[in-house]
Amino acid sequence: MKTQVGIIGAGPAGLLLSHLLALRGIDSVVLEHHPQPYVINRVRAGVLEQGTVDILKESGVGERLSKEGLEHHGIELLFGGIARRIDFPSLTGGKAVTVYGQREVIKDLIAAREAAGGKVLFEAKAYKLENLHDKPIIHFEQAGQAYQLNCDYIAGCDSFHGIARKSIPNDILKVYERIYPFAWLGILAEAAPSSPELIYANSAEGFALHSMRSPSISRNYIQCDPQDKLERWTDEAIWEALERRLARNDSPFKLSRGEILEKSITPMRSFVTEPMRYERLFLAGDAAHIVPPTGAKGMNLAVSDVRILAKALSDFYQEGSEEGLNGYSEKCLNRVWKVTRFSWWMTSMLHKYPEDDDFGHKLQLAQLDYTTSSLAAQTTLAENYVGLDLEL
Ligand code: APR
Ligand code: PHB
Repeated sequence: MKTQVGIIGAGPAGLLLSHLLALRGIDSVVLEHHPQPYVINRVRAGVLEQGTVDILKESGVGERLSKEGLEHHGIELLFGGIARRIDFPSLTGGKAVTVYGQREVIKDLIAAREAAGGKVLFEAKAYKLENLHDKPIIHFEQAGQAYQLNCDYIAGCDSFHGIARKSIPNDILKVYERIYPFAWLGILAEAAPSSPELIYANSAEGFALHSMRSPSISRNYIQCDPQDKLERWTDEAIWEALERRLARNDSPFKLSRGEILEKSITPMRSFVTEPMRYERLFLAGDAAHIVPPTGAKGMNLAVSDVRILAKALSDFYQEGSEEGLNGYSEKCLNRVWKVTRFSWWMTSMLHKYPEDDDFGHKLQLAQLDYTTSSLAAQTTLAENYVGLDLEL
């Protein structure tokens, strides 16, 4: 089998890259380890930056997003029982974010690839990369058969546990990592959102987030211990923790409850690898970096990587210029580190650290008070949350 760009992984990074390349007349094959229903049904994050919304719409996969996406003009930060709002449009020249689940983005991208006759092979696991310096080959297996995909370039969009990053020699790859001493317990519930906007709460008991997927489905998170077992948390205990952590001093907060459709615990880490390119292999999305979810950046960062990569590949195929390919890693990492900083900062400001004393908590409250009262600090939060400008 032969193609121009071999793509490993059908998450947002791999699927969007394949879609953007097809629009520019570049052939690709996507290899995905899991079956299609698994890829679609994974519950993931759901906040799209303005730039992510724009590229999905511009590239023709934004029809359902335009109808069903919930445009949000702000978030609330709740601390010491007091809620303060950050207003995005007035602070960022009219920008907003859109709540639309990653699941929906995946469905739209798969539908677009199928409609265009794109090649996305499910249950196809890449197990070895060869000839990265010259004529790359991806070895993969599907239904017990071994195959080879010959390509000009490989895009490693295969997330943290994939093989792409591991194919870069250890003496070239540098890993930067921070593991946080807490995790998020997330629930998806059949309950109308209890607030029109997301609420990020720093409470004495720990972090909580009230979010949503649609007018009838809410998504809530509470900080928990990374060693916690899901079974330890009954539905009742989760709802009660949410109610306590989201309570406010000035007005009653009524959290609507409903059937819990999904429940999971996610560890929190920051992780960045450098460089994001080795010979003819390009890493994108979670294969190259992971951010803690507090800034809602994971999928958005995957999207900005592949926008940069699609442009670089099209400059190469259409004009013979390798400038974009040569600058890919540096350009992506410049943005990745800014987003890593923002996600780390939101995480540090909002969570309860086991080792922290009262001094640490007081500093967090002062930081939150400053962030929500100074115009400069509000602007910093807002412009990062809606997404920094992307230079292609
Ligand atoms: N062969 C084929 N496919 C593979 C292999 C392999 N060896 N290893 C991993 N994969 C697939 C996984 O099954 C997964 O579907 O790669 C895909 C990677 O997709 P994502 O995990 O969604 O990663 P990415 O596209 O980078 O998107 C990042 O997704 O995980 C969230 O929070 C994260 O929002 C962020 C976004
Ligand atoms: C979500 O809705 O899943 C969500 C929202 C905001 C975040 C993280 C996750 O910061």
